[in-house]
Amino acid sequence: MPVFTLTRIELPMAKCFPSSRPKPRFLMLGLALLLGAGGGAAWAQADVIAARKASMKRMSEQLEVMKPVMEARGDVSALATRVADIAEILASVPSRFPTGSDSGDTKARPTIWSDRAGFEKAAETTLAAAQTLRTAVQSGDASASAAAFQALGGSCVGCHRGYRSR
Ligand code: HEC
Repeated sequence: MPVFTLTRIELPMAKCFPSSRPKPRFLMLGLALLLGAGGGAAWAQADVIAARKASMKRMSEQLEVMKPVMEARGDVSALATRVADIAEILASVPSRFPTGSDSGDTKARPTIWSDRAGFEKAAETTLAAAQTLRTAVQSGDASASAAAFQALGGSCVGCHRGYRSR
């Protein structure tokens, strides 16, 4: 992309104004800087995308571990640290989708940035659901926990419907 911009703009310019030919060394330096900056940014975004996918996966794994306990109406109080882990990740969700992290190996939909308020609201709602679950498991109430667990899962899916491509 930067290379393209340079060749398209600088070369016709050189033809129109032969007296002010761009100095090759200067151009090469500019090109190297642009490529360096662009390449670095792309790498940084790839890291952001990989890290956010890993954090989503981690929440999923936590839910998987919790599921049988919920279904059996088992010892839900033992799950408190897992719920806390999910809540911590959820609180970080908006910051894991910075501008520019919309392309590459990602299923993030453009709606995340075009409807930022809606996206952040979905993250907030899901965090609130995790906090409700946290209170329920801490109280040891298995059926309240099971209901809150369902609600949390539904909230995850709600965001995916609007903001993740299939
Ligand atoms: C505010 C929106 C939002 C919420 C809330 C949310 N997710 Fe996601 N999730 C996404 C988006 C967007 C992606 C796609 C990320 C990407 O591909 O870069 C995703 C991806 C995933 C993935 C796939 C990761 C991968 O390896 O590709 C899993 C699994 C997942 N989410 C689980 C969950 C679980 C479990 C919850 C609830 C505890 C949850 N998510 C809550 C938006 C959300």
